[in-house]
Amino acid sequence: MIAGAAEMLAGLAVPAILVDPEGMLTQVNLAAENFLNTSQQALRERGWSAAFGPDSAVEGLVWRARSEGGGCAAYDVPLQFSGGRTARADVLVSPIGDAPEWLTVAFQTRSVATLVDRQVHQQGAARSAVGVAAMLAHEIKNPLSGIRGAAQLLASGIDADGRELTDLIVAEVDRIAKLVDRMESFTDTRPMKLRPENIHEILGHVRRVAERGFAADAVIRERYDPSLPLVAANRDALVQVFLNLLKNAAEASGRKGRIWITTAYRPGLKVRAGAGATPVSLPLEVRIIDNGPGVDGDLVDHVFEPFVTTKRGGSGLGLALVAKIVAEHGGVVEYDRAGEPEETIFRVLLPVTRDSGEPV
Ligand SMILES: Nc1ncnc2c1ncn2[C@@H]1O[C@H](COP(=O)(O)OP(=O)(O)OP(=O)(O)O)[C@@H](O)[C@H]1O
Ligand SMILES: [Mg+2]
Repeated sequence: MIAGAAEMLAGLAVPAILVDPEGMLTQVNLAAENFLNTSQQALRERGWSAAFGPDSAVEGLVWRARSEGGGCAAYDVPLQFSGGRTARADVLVSPIGDAPEWLTVAFQTRSVATLVDRQVHQQGAARSAVGVAAMLAHEIKNPLSGIRGAAQLLASGIDADGRELTDLIVAEVDRIAKLVDRMESFTDTRPMKLRPENIHEILGHVRRVAERGFAADAVIRERYDPSLPLVAANRDALVQVFLNLLKNAAEASGRKGRIWITTAYRPGLKVRAGAGATPVSLPLEVRIIDNGPGVDGDLVDHVFEPFVTTKRGGSGLGLALVAKIVAEHGGVVEYDRAGEPEETIFRVLLPVTRDSGEPV
């Protein structure tokens, strides 16, 4: 681990552990030290049993994830810490993007999981991604350029069969680099510059991009509320939000899928951003609706968390990024199934702006 990675992991909001390819605990963050009531050093030296006792359910989940080559989650897991203390938590084991031999283990404690309001939860998920992304950028990007360069050198002295393999290395390295770039967008925590924007203009642009690319086989319809006022927005960031939502909708509804983009203005609507918080007005609603099967049942509470994916080659970062950007706009994003027949709905609620650019 290079210097700096430890501090970044320490910034994560949820207890999280990084597990290396040998199954050893290499990093724990401060939240995890508190949660486990032990130090990083003790964990490194004495391993899993220092935290969870021998043959724990958590260690079992990690081995399961490793042997099955994917992520796994278990909800409401009883934990018995060394020292006798007990707790219950949801445990999420996820391979790290394109470095799947590294795993993150994240804990969502039950009392928190049930109390925390959706928006706060989303912000937490986004924050946890910040640390992981920053760390990965450091850990992965440098060796990648070395691997790429070495493969290109090899390519000059070998036959066509061999070159096919070196081309494969270069292509895969480029894919990983792209993924890391995408994760790096989480590490940017500077406040966003917001300007008054016309959401219909943004949606129109996103629709054109989608129709020329990933949604070429889908039918996209729109139902816009012409009374919509301007939104305090960062245009590029909102384009990313709606591209991600449309891409998921296209992937879920498949060929001949039907996707609707709708907008509505509900000046009376107030949303509470956390238990006890003052309600804020989020009157502007954009919905991306598709006629696909909806989010898998046991994923519903976790879709906005980073690295949650059911797709081959998916990174599970799309919706985490959506949640981060929408939160930075002072808004909320939520998932719903409704209608007859049932449809998948991702709803983004945003504040509107006065012409000065200040949210109302
Ligand atoms: N419209 C949808 N219908 C059904 N399931 C969805 C929809 N949108 C998201 N999901 C589920 O949520 C998961 C997480 O979505 P997310 O966009 O974060 O990642 P991804 O699409 O799997 O990967 P990436 O966006 O990085 O390509 C998806 O894998 C899918 O299972
Ligand atoms: Mg996606």
